Amino acid sequence: METLLLSEKQIEIAAQLIRDGEVVGIPTETVYGLGADASDENAVRKIFEAKGRPADNPLIVHLSDFSEAEKYTSYIPELARKLADKFCPGPFTMILPKNDNIPLVTSGGLDTVGIRIPSHPVMHRLIELSGKPIAAPSANVSGYPSPTSAQHVMRDMNSRISAVIDGGQSQFGVESTVVSVENGDTVRILRPGCVTKEMILEICENVIIDKAVISGLEKDEKAASPGMKYKHYSPSADIVMIKSDLEHFTEYVGNHYGDNVYALIFDGDEKNFPYRYMTYGKNGSEQAHLVFQRLREFDDIHAEKVYVRTPSLDGVGLAVYNRLIRAAGFEVIRI
Ligand code: TXA
Ligand code: MG
Repeated sequence: METLLLSEKQIEIAAQLIRDGEVVGIPTETVYGLGADASDENAVRKIFEAKGRPADNPLIVHLSDFSEAEKYTSYIPELARKLADKFCPGPFTMILPKNDNIPLVTSGGLDTVGIRIPSHPVMHRLIELSGKPIAAPSANVSGYPSPTSAQHVMRDMNSRISAVIDGGQSQFGVESTVVSVENGDTVRILRPGCVTKEMILEICENVIIDKAVISGLEKDEKAASPGMKYKHYSPSADIVMIKSDLEHFTEYVGNHYGDNVYALIFDGDEKNFPYRYMTYGKNGSEQAHLVFQRLREFDDIHAEKVYVRTPSLDGVGLAVYNRLIRAAGFEVIRI
């Protein structure tokens, strides 16, 4: 385990704010969250208000240990326990049937609840000290890229919340993998993350990637995960995904170049790339770590259009792809 960057007393101040029904910016190993007592309806309403989040989009409940899930759920399938043994604590959320200890405000009106056991040592200690289940969405203003540092949270939420705990740069950089268990033997991935399909296949041979993960939903289609139906992760700059080799990508950017036009390319692409660019790593894990930070940096430099080299759909790459196509409004140009 990492050493804590904060003293026990500092975390206790935040824990007291949580017990008092306030909203606190919290570090996790995926992205920063906006945390409040999941069992306190008024506290949870403050989260929705601070984010400008639609009331039908449920919150994930964070616990210190998977054994605590018994208190907030009505049933835990055997397969869910197996998954928890392998992936908790970590960047992994399971949708389970909720019980009355989770108010409907927290679950967005659904009869299920997302349960996650974060591994970040500060977050873990905060849950223990508060003695509360902590509901937390990502700490961005609704629709904007998720925050991966305390500075990002300050920028989005400064006057709207009571405090931000600085737990350093988020380790993974994209939000947790969200799954549901179906018929006791099938795992459905509702949102891809750093616990990948390939990793889940080691525990369970039936893994389905929900349709909403890589394509937009039709107008009247119902989302298995409400968050998937909203335009998301989107900076002010217009994001355009391009699926091609580097040569055609470079040519396309050249043909569409102008003031405030940028490219987001892989590490190693920059050698002969003659246009303005930022890089975002050379593999899925590095891209996950950097993608939201880069999207925010493009806004800082007033980029108007950003052409993005499309990541691979394998492993963690699928999570990066899922965030970027939402930022791009589902438009991918194939050359
Ligand atoms: O890594 C994470 O999961 C971060 C950190 C803070 O833990 N949290 C996070 O929360 O990303 P949020 O609210 O930004 O995204 C949660 C996603 C949403 O798409 C939501 O619709 C879905 O999970 N979700 C939550 N509860 C659900 C439920 N009961 N059924 C289906 N989908 C659910
Ligand atoms: Mg979010």
